[in-house]
Amino acid sequence: MESLRRVESRCSVADTDDFDLSRMLDKQPRLNIERKRSFDDRSLSELSISGNFRHTESYESMLSPMATRSVLDTPASSSKNVFDPHPIVFEAWESLRKSLVFFRGQPVGTIAAIDHSSEEVLNYDQVFVRDFVPSALAFLMNGEPEIVKNFLLKTLQLQSGEKKIDRFKLGEGAMPASFKVLHDPRRKKDTIIADFGESAIGRVAPVDSGFWWIILLRAYTKSTGDLSLAETPECQKGMRLILSLCLSEGFDTFPTLLCADGCSMIDRRMGIYGYPIEIQALFFMSLRCALSMLKSDAQGKEFMERIARRLHALSYHMRSYFWLDFQQLNDIYRYKTEEYSHTAVNKFNVIPDSIPEWVFDFMPMRGGYFIGNVSPARMDFRWFAVGNCVAILSSLATPEQSVAIMDLIEERWEELVGEMPLKICYPAIESHEWRIVTGCDPKNTRWSYHNGGSWPVLLWLLTAASIKTGRPQIARRVIELAETRLLKDGWPEYYDGKLGRYIGKQARKFQTWSIAGYLVAKMMLEDPSNLGMISLEEDKAIRPVIKRSVSWTC
Ligand code: GLC
Repeated sequence: MESLRRVESRCSVADTDDFDLSRMLDKQPRLNIERKRSFDDRSLSELSISGNFRHTESYESMLSPMATRSVLDTPASSSKNVFDPHPIVFEAWESLRKSLVFFRGQPVGTIAAIDHSSEEVLNYDQVFVRDFVPSALAFLMNGEPEIVKNFLLKTLQLQSGEKKIDRFKLGEGAMPASFKVLHDPRRKKDTIIADFGESAIGRVAPVDSGFWWIILLRAYTKSTGDLSLAETPECQKGMRLILSLCLSEGFDTFPTLLCADGCSMIDRRMGIYGYPIEIQALFFMSLRCALSMLKSDAQGKEFMERIARRLHALSYHMRSYFWLDFQQLNDIYRYKTEEYSHTAVNKFNVIPDSIPEWVFDFMPMRGGYFIGNVSPARMDFRWFAVGNCVAILSSLATPEQSVAIMDLIEERWEELVGEMPLKICYPAIESHEWRIVTGCDPKNTRWSYHNGGSWPVLLWLLTAASIKTGRPQIARRVIELAETRLLKDGWPEYYDGKLGRYIGKQARKFQTWSIAGYLVAKMMLEDPSNLGMISLEEDKAIRPVIKRSVSWTC
């Protein structure tokens, strides 16, 4: 599938039999439980752990299984998708299957893009962890969990290798941003090289990879009812290693996770350093997912207690300080500054003059959102799609906040959805600010790529959030919009312009997550019970004590 290329000596190369998937797979007992699709995410029994924290998902609640079928070797088919004769669906499945990457005969992921027209391949010929998530969901929803299992095990093995950037050794728990399978036809050998940021443009750290891995492990477990994978010592250890990285104590005064720029889907300098919403929402979601999958043995228990404490503080912090609605904006506008001691209202000493002009017009009377970043004297008021949708799916957003986020999307439809769903962030930064924030990045010019570009992959997240908040009509509308263009335009990676009308300047065609994102959106709308694998119900025990803005309950 991919040509053999010279591997840089710095890359993590794994070419031994340690990477033989079948060895690990053989150890897993196969479960074949009858499918009982359930939209309801609540547990049958609530598990009580330290303090007053109770988490509302246990293994039992994950049993909304479907009969596990191994159809990876079946010919390209969308036979299960008889619900929709839309020709795009068939085309999409075909393209998705073409993107499969095999390791020693087994599918282990999907390539980021198969764009034959593009001159430079860069790293689009790799399996990206974050890009594989919508592919994985599509396969799970289509009753093909095997590839997801293979992927989870493969990336787990990559995690356990030594990772170095120049002379610096990375944390044990780090998960790769991407990996590539190299086929040597002469030696009849497949090898894998992983990229933990050491080859990535800008050497960015993929903080989101480990979180997506945990979220995907839960989605797999929830969808198949196969608890045996998550229960293996390897998966339990993998989760603990990821968690050790992000739960470790340091100098922080906030429960949010401090990150460098480019640490997630936005993997370029875009001024998201600090406490970006996307990472905080994924952090929250993966903590909740891990809590439902960790075994309460001696090691697991300790982590469960740490998670419970962190969730409590994190949800309070996020719901209080990242939340912005009309009322809250007005409060910040009137903030006093230079307040000392714990009686301070303006805790982070945000100077009202730093509120950008656009936000006053953008903020509707009805609606709200989690802003991009909060740190001392800095609030990034930009709206980000992934963070806000994941906040809804993980129930980091209270039910009132979830409703408000969807209200805002409806109220600001033209700005956020436009002609191609969905803007990665809003608004774009321009001129002097663009120079300072992006370092003059020619790919991230205003309303392009990560700077206010429109990404079809986000369709699945918006659809999931719409269904969860009981607004499937939004999902229907955005899917219809996407259907008018996606196939015709060759599944671009992103669109440009204020309305997202133009195919992105440097956008890849046949971008796998654009294809998979569409399929997932389609399948979720058709069968909302699919939502359960990627959504967590509200946990009453982690509701904030104090509400900052009355408009939450309006
Ligand atoms: C770009 C995107 C990143 C994605 C990768 C592969 O670098 O910014 O989010 O994972 O392409 O599609």
